[in-house]
Amino acid sequence: MSTLAVVGTQWGDEGKGKITDYLAENAEYVVRYQGGANAGHTVEIGKEVIALHLLPSGILRPNVINVIGNGVVLDLEALMKEVDMVRSTGRSVDGLRISDRANLVMRYHKLMDGMEERLRGAKGVGTTGRGIGPCYSDKIARNGIRMCDLLDRQALEERLDLLYPIKEKMLASMGVEGLPGKHELLDQLVEYGEIFGPYVCDTSVLINDAIRSGKRVMFEGAQGTMLDIDHGTYPYVTSSSCVTGGICTGAGVGPSSIQEIIGVVKAYTTRVGAGPFPTELRDSIGEQLLVKGGEYGATTGRARRCGWLDLVIVNYAVRLNSISSLAVTKLDVLNGMGPPKVAVAYDIDGERVKDFPASLNRLARARPIYEELEGWEDWAEGQAGDIASKGRGALPKGMRKYLDFISIQTGVPVSIIGIGRERHETIDLRSEASRS
Ligand code: GDP
Ligand code: IMO
Ligand code: MG
Repeated sequence: MSTLAVVGTQWGDEGKGKITDYLAENAEYVVRYQGGANAGHTVEIGKEVIALHLLPSGILRPNVINVIGNGVVLDLEALMKEVDMVRSTGRSVDGLRISDRANLVMRYHKLMDGMEERLRGAKGVGTTGRGIGPCYSDKIARNGIRMCDLLDRQALEERLDLLYPIKEKMLASMGVEGLPGKHELLDQLVEYGEIFGPYVCDTSVLINDAIRSGKRVMFEGAQGTMLDIDHGTYPYVTSSSCVTGGICTGAGVGPSSIQEIIGVVKAYTTRVGAGPFPTELRDSIGEQLLVKGGEYGATTGRARRCGWLDLVIVNYAVRLNSISSLAVTKLDVLNGMGPPKVAVAYDIDGERVKDFPASLNRLARARPIYEELEGWEDWAEGQAGDIASKGRGALPKGMRKYLDFISIQTGVPVSIIGIGRERHETIDLRSEASRS
């Protein structure tokens, strides 16, 4: 690997954090290129359970440079908390770099996020409330404040003089309270500028220099493909480009800079928030997946909706991201659950459909066409690490067949297999292949 991207193929929470942390053992740079504090990437190391929101998941590995790219919307209050949390584990954040072009999530963005959700009522997106939509809206409308503005008090004052009265009027007209005064906001931003200033640089220059000198650079997707602003289940999506195309704009690199692309696939499907979900199970199997998989949001704690694996969406993600191989996670959750089902197409009004439709009305009529596969037995508690150390051949036969089925249906090899939350509960077929 010289450059490698890790992207989610479903509606998020596929285990991108675990896979990124695992692969970061051999990385020198890990770059976040989109999203903000809406992300929740959980990494487990022994008894430590660490939920990362803004910091790239390479932050737990020593000697890795962790970059927050220009495409990320940066909530400095949230970043401060996260930096303190990582330091409290005895780790350093000296390797953090923040793009001078990253747009900032302001208090008013979070207030507007909450207000818009309230106004949408029953048709709400179910956002994480982290101000993501309003911040990206302002960025595109050219009303943003960027990291570089924080390092220049005069530029910052000029931006706030222009923008604050607009936001104040908008919020007041909607009856939303809680906006701090302009001077309070300014002082707070200046303080954050002083704290984070030493970490700020032109991260595009940094990343491109690293790539040119053969350093191992990873890009970590924040949300999954189905939450992508263009390709996801719009409007039930997040506000950024989660697909690999987003790496170019969000990190400031050209397309030929991305060599290997790993798509992370959870062995079943989950979704948090509202929106279409064709293979959702509102029965005891869905409940089992929720409980066994511990499917509660890492950012908001909400219970995730659960369902069978949907290869229509995984195939869609393979196409949109140029995925070169798959990391299949949480296979252990299907242990002992009986024969799993996998959707290979949808039936919409009697037509067999394999390309994910755009229209929400068509999606509402989509009935998954399932293939039922062979189940496999559970293993004894604490066995996953031992099984993983023996490699793919030690996996139950049904699980191997399940993996082969995914590979055949997507036309993409499986390179990493996740059978537990911890680093060592992982089978890396890339290294197995290089050993044999
Ligand atoms: P992300 O947002 O894509 O990084 O995923 P989350 O961290 O939100 O959710 C994935 C959850 O599954 C986390 O709690 C991980 O610790 C856990 N996890 C990741 N891989 C595996 C696996 O192979 N098996 C099990 N049982 N848990 C896993
Ligand atoms: P990770 O990094 C799952 C969902 C929200 C909501 C929609 C829009 O853990 O994979 P937003 O706050 O972004 O405007 O909300 O997107 N969402 C996620 N769902 N995992 C995430 O991140 C998500 N980030 C946003 O639930 O439906
Ligand atoms: Mg998550």
